[in-house]
Amino acid sequence: MVDAEGCYFYDSQGKKYLDFSSQLVCSNLGHKNRAVIEAIRDYVGKLPYISPAFACDVRAEVSKMLAELMPPGISKFFYSTSGTEANEAALKIARLYTRRHKVISRYRSYHGSTAASISVTGDHRRWYVDSLATVPGTLFAPDAYCYRCPLGLRYPECGVACADYVEYMLSNEADIAAVIIEPVVGTNGVIVPPPEYLPRLRKITEKYDVLLIADEVMSGWGRTGEWFAVNHWNVVPDIITTAKGITGSYMPLGVTGTCEKVTSFFDDNFFAHGHTYEAHPLALAAAVAAINEYKRLNLIERSRIMGGYLGKRLKELADKHDSVGEVRGLGLFWAVDLTQNKETREPFNVMADKHEGKPLNVDKIASEMMRNGVYVMAWVNHLIIAPPLTIEEEDIDLGVDVLDKALKIADEAARR
Ligand SMILES: Cc1ncc(COP(=O)(O)O)c(C=O)c1O
Repeated sequence: MVDAEGCYFYDSQGKKYLDFSSQLVCSNLGHKNRAVIEAIRDYVGKLPYISPAFACDVRAEVSKMLAELMPPGISKFFYSTSGTEANEAALKIARLYTRRHKVISRYRSYHGSTAASISVTGDHRRWYVDSLATVPGTLFAPDAYCYRCPLGLRYPECGVACADYVEYMLSNEADIAAVIIEPVVGTNGVIVPPPEYLPRLRKITEKYDVLLIADEVMSGWGRTGEWFAVNHWNVVPDIITTAKGITGSYMPLGVTGTCEKVTSFFDDNFFAHGHTYEAHPLALAAAVAAINEYKRLNLIERSRIMGGYLGKRLKELADKHDSVGEVRGLGLFWAVDLTQNKETREPFNVMADKHEGKPLNVDKIASEMMRNGVYVMAWVNHLIIAPPLTIEEEDIDLGVDVLDKALKIADEAARR
């Protein structure tokens, strides 16, 4: 790839692709945003690097902005360079603060590739390194995945038993430091939990005095139509992690935000952690400009409005195609979840297929779409549609039409 502008990118042959997944669900501002580019250019001429032991103006500015934008009470921030590092810091903070070790996560999750973050990752990427390069002590709770409920129940009759099961786990386990969740699960299926789920999980974690860590690496920054996904349910976690969209991905930046209670512990206790590139001024300069652009372009509201249109267009495909089981999402964050059989909801592929390198239907669909000039992220048995928040209706129509045609690959497989 050699160039990118707005919602499109270009290869060396001059072929144009619609970016229908914002790369790795991170190019929220679209490509070549002038304000962010200028901010990086200006700052590299001013203070290209300074040790994280020093404060600098952009660090103060981002911290002030985050304290205003993040859920109330999240007031102190650790800056790294990626989502996995943001979670690595969060898990270390939770373990030091609670003096406990174990963490509850869920199977349909991805939290990063470094030792602690991959250990709490539920998807098959952990399987390759399990017991070789992981930190022991993760327990996996049932996913709030209503379309294929792991408890075999149906919402709302289920009474959100998946949340109650976490209480059962906490009352039967010792040494739990934290529960880590993606409030809206990203890569593993854009799973939006039922409305009771997160508020109940918050109550349960409070009751058992364990920390709630919200991983908003993918779901933050307007992706779901709110600054952060937890806002949909007015849930305030103890720790919130983010990365990707904070700079529109123009520079690498991870953030671990902590609440007052946790933060004050480190007034008197050493936080043995840090990086040379921690709080890198160029990344922070990009973040200031990116956050100002989210505000200037009204992108949070835009995500809600354009997300409504995208959702409507995608749901038309669910009615039309035998292979589309469920279309679900929030804001400009959607999944098209495939099935071999609409009644049984059986997927074409499961994580073990991906682990064993079997050809996946979703990869065939994504390749066909790429041939036709639309890039989408494919994962095991679903496609993730998450365009830049700057997308226009006509670009959505283009992407949906190309997806519509490519779905014949799965329709044919469903009939076999
Ligand atoms: C929810 C979530 N957490 C953590 C990560 C890891 O972020 P990074 O790739 O920046 O290390 C990702 C990456 O996709 C993610 O989606």
